Order: sequence, then structure tokens, then C-alpha cells
Amino acid sequence: MAEQVDIPHTGAKKEIYEAILSQIEALIGNEQDLIANMANISSVLKEAFHFLWVGFYLVKDEQLVLGPFQGPVACTRIQYGKGVCGTAWQQMEAIVVPDVYDFPGHIACSSRSRSEVVIPLIKNNKVYAVLDIDSELLNRFDKDDVIYLSKICRILT
Ligand code: SME
Repeated sequence: MAEQVDIPHTGAKKEIYEAILSQIEALIGNEQDLIANMANISSVLKEAFHFLWVGFYLVKDEQLVLGPFQGPVACTRIQYGKGVCGTAWQQMEAIVVPDVYDFPGHIACSSRSRSEVVIPLIKNNKVYAVLDIDSELLNRFDKDDVIYLSKICRILT
């Protein structure tokens, strides 16, 4: 498998997603280990977009427990229905938060985070993890991010 990834640092958001999508497929396509694959995906997304924080939480004992991530230290456990991550788990749907101050119950792991997107990873109709991305920019995420990040999560699943 190719451990090297050629990440474009300029270009439109969609172009960067297109460029990394096929490389993520190649990177994790032959690897079965979920944690290893989550770690590499976190790295590629952080490198490509310079987000503040990119990472995964895994459902364990009816809680979300911190998994592989890139960025500042984060809260280790999130309860069902709590914060953006716990709400995405509960609703089984992606959530885009344009301004974290406007999301009631947002869990501030870093005061630098201003907007956020969370994608639930679903298998056999159950959420088994979430992908969480934080940005220092307000209103950083839109429908296109949800589309591409969902594709990346499907490769993982
Ligand atoms: N802000 C998230 C918590 C996780 S950290 O941002 C890494 C939330 O409200 O669920």
C-alpha cells in the first residue's frame, strides 16, 4: 500500500477533496485495522485543510471515547446526546455548526474552535464512531464538506 500521500495545498475545496479521496482509498484500502485507518485519515485531513482539530470518537459502553486525532488535547468522553458529537450520534445525522457559540450544549475542548462539523459513522444501522472536525474560522463548513467527509467515512466503514 502507498504510505505516501500527495496533498495539494492550493485550489478549491472540492478539488482538494477530490485529490485526497482516491489517495485515502489507496492508503486504507488494504488495511483492516480501524484505529490505524482513522489515524491516517485524521492526518490527511489536517494536512490538507489545516483544521484546528480532526479526529474520531468511538462508541464504547454507551459513551463516545476519544480515538485517533490530530490537534490539541481533547475531552476523552462524551455522553449520548451531549455536545455536537453526542447529538450527531443520537440523531444519526451529520451536523454542521457555523458558530459554536450558537449551539446549545456545545462542548468546548478548545476556546479557539469557532465552527464544527460532525459525521456519524454507521454500520448495521448503528453509530459506531463519529468524525469531528473543528475550525478556528467561523462558518468554515458547508454541504460540500458533509458530502466529501461522508464519502471518506464510507471508505472507512
Ligand atoms: N466540540 C465537541 C467536543 C469534541 S472537541 O471539539 C474535540 C462537541 O461539542 O461535541
